[in-house]
Amino acid sequence: MAGPVGIGIIGTGTIAQAHLQGLATSTAGRAVAVFDVLSERAHQTAREFDIPYVASSIEDLLARSDVDAVIVATPPFAHGEATIKALQAGKHVLCEKPFALDPNEADRMVRAAERAGKFLACASGRLRYTQPQLRARRMMESGELGDVYHVRSTGMRFRGRPGHHMLPRSAWFLDSRRAGGGIIMDGSVYTIDSVLWLMGNPKVLSVMASMRQFVEEPPTGGVTQDVEDHAVIMLQCEGGKSAIVESAWVSNMDEVDGLWVFGTKAGLRFNPLRKITPQRVDPVEMQGAMGVMGTDIFRPVSEKVYPFERPASFAPMGDIADRFAQAIRDGKQPMTPGRDALEVTRVIDAAYRSAREQKVVALA
Ligand SMILES: NC(=O)c1ccc[n+]([C@@H]2O[C@H](COP(=O)([O-])OP(=O)(O)OC[C@H]3O[C@@H](n4cnc5c(N)ncnc54)[C@H](O)[C@@H]3O)[C@@H](O)[C@H]2O)c1
Repeated sequence: MAGPVGIGIIGTGTIAQAHLQGLATSTAGRAVAVFDVLSERAHQTAREFDIPYVASSIEDLLARSDVDAVIVATPPFAHGEATIKALQAGKHVLCEKPFALDPNEADRMVRAAERAGKFLACASGRLRYTQPQLRARRMMESGELGDVYHVRSTGMRFRGRPGHHMLPRSAWFLDSRRAGGGIIMDGSVYTIDSVLWLMGNPKVLSVMASMRQFVEEPPTGGVTQDVEDHAVIMLQCEGGKSAIVESAWVSNMDEVDGLWVFGTKAGLRFNPLRKITPQRVDPVEMQGAMGVMGTDIFRPVSEKVYPFERPASFAPMGDIADRFAQAIRDGKQPMTPGRDALEVTRVIDAAYRSAREQKVVALA
């Protein structure tokens, strides 16, 4: 493709601003048109980011020949329709997370991309672009970690309920009809993608989950919430592989967040990325404890793999727009394909069923 990829943005709220900041410094993509059902928001965004065209409808935006690709940045209830229309109009699509409200909708989106022969990507995979996760994935692929058989992720906000403690104008996050769910649709959606990707995307056999709505008081000021604040999800995968994902918008806890990769040769901890390997202990060192410990004794050796700590201002939100544009320009499937987002959607759907029916849910 000659010149930067022309990108249309559908939905110009909080996350669209991050995408536009990412595109502002991109050589691969350029925002050429925006649309929002709240037209004043679209106009304001266009003024701020110097975008030449404000569309009067999705169809108006999709009819433009300078729009090669679209970023769908609406709340979740509107992802499916906008994505399918854009693909049918011959545009490549980056859809915000959560990909879809349910697996049927996700499947229709993936099929629409296949029928159109266009690339479909989803922002639920945006953590794949962070340097430590890229490095960890390469270490898994090269065999350096042995067989990666378990990944565990914990992400517990203290007070981070959107529509209440943060992003107060986006109360849709708390409404199941518009958001599809709570912390799972908002947060676990990323870490489910990460734990599967870091194991090489094994087939998920079953899901067991537990969730809870309120950990502290419900939101005040007329805002209603019917979605979960806290969730624990366990995945059973082919080949004896497993994953645990713990997430919360609200918890009375600090400093428990992390991502742990367990391989048969080595393990990984993140932030900063460290590789943990066993080292045989010289029996002379262990003289006093030999009777208790036996003679085949190992200790963990921790080696720093990735030199940087995650800065406090870490915000990988906008980077995915530039990466998406680069892939489209190069004629390649972006690294965060819709098909993987469909799998994450199936896991999430099974997690809700598991919690509701209090049983392990098998995935065909
Ligand atoms: N806010 C964040 O930090 C964040 C981070 C990552 C991903 N996301 C995801 O991005 C998406 C948008 O979130 P947000 O925080 O920007 O929401 P937001 O409420 O700030 O903005 C959403 C915008 O979409 C518009 N909109 C609604 N329906 C539309 C439709 N049918 N067509 C066109 N525009 C429509 C709204 O008017 C609004 O301006 C969500 O899926 C969310 O999960 C948000």
